[in-house]
Amino acid sequence: MTILQEIFSWLTIQTILVGTLVLLFVLWVQNFSRCYNMPPGPMQWPIVGNLPSLAMIGKENLLDYFKKLGDKYNGLFTIKMGDHLAVCITDYSIMKEALLKQGACFSDRPSLHMMKVIQHSETIRGILFGNGRPWQLQKNFTIQSLRDEGVGKKTVEAKIQVEARALVSELEKKVGQAQDPSGSVAMAVSNVICSMIFGARYEYNDAEFTSLLKTINDMVQSVNWYDPRNVFSLLEYLPYPKSYNIVRNGQSQVSNLVVKEIEKHRKSLTVGENRDIIDRALHISRKNGEDSKYFEGEELNTLVLELFLAGADTSVQTLKWSLLLMAKYAEYQENCFTEINTVIGERLPTMDDRACLPIVEATLSEIQRFRIVGPMAITHISTKDATLRGFHIPKGTWVLPQLHAIMFDEKLWKDPNEFRPGRFLDSSGKFVVADELINFGIGKWSCPGEALAKANHFIFFVMLIQKFKILKTDVDVNLDPILGTNWSPNSQNIMFSLR
Ligand code: HEM
Repeated sequence: MTILQEIFSWLTIQTILVGTLVLLFVLWVQNFSRCYNMPPGPMQWPIVGNLPSLAMIGKENLLDYFKKLGDKYNGLFTIKMGDHLAVCITDYSIMKEALLKQGACFSDRPSLHMMKVIQHSETIRGILFGNGRPWQLQKNFTIQSLRDEGVGKKTVEAKIQVEARALVSELEKKVGQAQDPSGSVAMAVSNVICSMIFGARYEYNDAEFTSLLKTINDMVQSVNWYDPRNVFSLLEYLPYPKSYNIVRNGQSQVSNLVVKEIEKHRKSLTVGENRDIIDRALHISRKNGEDSKYFEGEELNTLVLELFLAGADTSVQTLKWSLLLMAKYAEYQENCFTEINTVIGERLPTMDDRACLPIVEATLSEIQRFRIVGPMAITHISTKDATLRGFHIPKGTWVLPQLHAIMFDEKLWKDPNEFRPGRFLDSSGKFVVADELINFGIGKWSCPGEALAKANHFIFFVMLIQKFKILKTDVDVNLDPILGTNWSPNSQNIMFSLR
């Protein structure tokens, strides 16, 4: 009898059953020791973890599902994405403890498959998902160069006013008619970012750039951090309704633009002169020293691409939500108009006006809370074993900050599902800053574009309300969000009539 024959003669139904049970027991013990004293959470399946339940819940209900789990498990729970342990934080004070107090433990980014696809590379680089010294250098560079481009100063106001004026002219062309303003809004808001990064603005009839902006939105809508393809990368070859092809095509379109612009800048670079962020990076790349390599070649391409991706779509969606919410809630729009009309009349708004426009400030905050455009922030990973609220969080655990759950937490906001700007005003009508409004994230990894995004939101909003009454058509406004990496509204028509 050969060895194989001998083995097969042993294989009875009973031995297979016993073998399977032993294997499952070993897996369970292994899992138990890995998860020992981790925060509790919903039941997990072997190998696939919680992915089947997430798939069954569906993208539309995912954020509510996480919020409900958060309510059940006191703001902190564990799930498994395939074999990856992940803790979700839905409580504001736990989030502060993790990302601020213990920031050093929870601040790195994991290597998600999705980012490898976007970057066309097995090595993740750049500011969104990079780590360590290269990330720190690029983040410092981003904060400094946004400042140098005028963020926080009069220069940025002027840039935004130019684009807001162009948007007003574009919308005026169809005054009194039903129109979907998405394309024009995308062009106007992206132009502000483009002027800082590329030193260029694009015309409304530029078909190539218009199609690029649409591609970026499709790309952002087609994937999210909880996509099972981030864990089981081979799934990307299945015919998903919205496959990674959207991401691949989008990535190569944006990348073509970025590479072309960097090349153009390289050829016309003048020593000592900075036309925009690309010039600032190229000057660093020409300095001697180790660090200069993070501002050239693929490193520079990725940084520029990510600044454009992170900056444009978030700000575009914020303004789109603003228009829809003002069309839906006419009384709040009128409150803003009356305040703007009384305080600044028809002159151009500046950031200094914010202090005298509490109703506008409150309305903008409520828009950012009620339709938070980055509801899941960006996934973090723990860098060492840590303890959070008495629970063990092993090194390498994904940390999922559920900003959405915090924006709709009944303990923080009364009737959170109601759009109510007055929650940001005190009894004397003064604007109240709410620390819990953390739509730009908190801690070391928070958004470096916050000041620019806020300036964009304020100046575009005021200039549009000064000029137009924003109206719904005979169909009610659809406020259902589409969840991708961002929360964006459905395309729909609204109307603009002249004030
Ligand atoms: C309304 C507009 C915006 C919102 C709501 C927003 C929100 C966010 C959020 C929630 C994060 C992740 C924080 C975390 O992981 O904990 C983030 C990261 C980031 N944002 Fe923004 N953002 C906006 C606009 C911008 C703009 C205009 C820029 C650039 C010009 C920008 C660049 C970035 C970058 C580079 C990161 C990654 C930071 C890092 O990993 O260190 N964002 N943003």
